[in-house]
Amino acid sequence: MDKSTVALRTEAAEGAPALLLRAWAPRDIPQLVEAHRDAELRRWITTLVHDEESAARWVQDQRSGWDSGERIAFAVVEPAAADGGETVVGHVVLKRTGTATSAEVGYWTAAAARGRAVAPRALRALTDWAFTVLDLTRLDLLHRTDNAASCRVAEKAGYRLEAVLPAAPPAFPETGHLHTRAAEPPAP
Ligand SMILES: CC(C)(COP(=O)(O)OP(=O)(O)OC[C@H]1O[C@@H](n2cnc3c(N)ncnc32)[C@H](O)[C@@H]1OP(=O)(O)O)[C@@H](O)C(=O)NCCC(=O)NCCS
Repeated sequence: MDKSTVALRTEAAEGAPALLLRAWAPRDIPQLVEAHRDAELRRWITTLVHDEESAARWVQDQRSGWDSGERIAFAVVEPAAADGGETVVGHVVLKRTGTATSAEVGYWTAAAARGRAVAPRALRALTDWAFTVLDLTRLDLLHRTDNAASCRVAEKAGYRLEAVLPAAPPAFPETGHLHTRAAEPPAP
């Protein structure tokens, strides 16, 4: 898939503009480093960047993921301001899990943009695109049970709670939630 041509758009939210989802690019590195300085993000996300060098590697990994089709990641941005600069407000990703028809989703929102439904709006746009353009039929979303904000994102994006997963330390020290969304069957 050509990462340079895919752009998804969300609706606006109360007091917040519509969002654009497009492939991560090297120009995002400074804002990515800044977003990853946040302790809350570092608490819940496993693959972190620490500086410009690790951020550059991470961006390159996301771009390679598009080329292989294994990992389709979007920077979530607010439209260009008068000075022409975009603000990166989040990240959503679709990870292929070895089946032809399903995948797993993930997301984070930069600290300054939280509470404006960035993640649920971006996740809904990604989900619709995955069902209609990629023809996937099921998407899974996993989060730690104690991550209440992430659970709200799942609910607001229409992902039904499917199962409570047992802890499996050391990788998964807490119980988890598996949420799932299925594509609507085609009209008869
Ligand atoms: C979870 C997360 C993605 C939510 O993103 P968001 O764009 O703020 O989403 P929303 O605005 O819909 O808020 C979701 C919930 O976050 C909480 N929240 C709201 N404002 C918040 C703020 N300023 N700071 C922290 N949490 C806030 C609320 O519980 C909200 O639920 P509500 O709408 O029922 O009140 C974001 O908090 C985040 O990036 N957390 C760290 C990374 C993470 O946990 N990723 C998911 C891993 S599975």
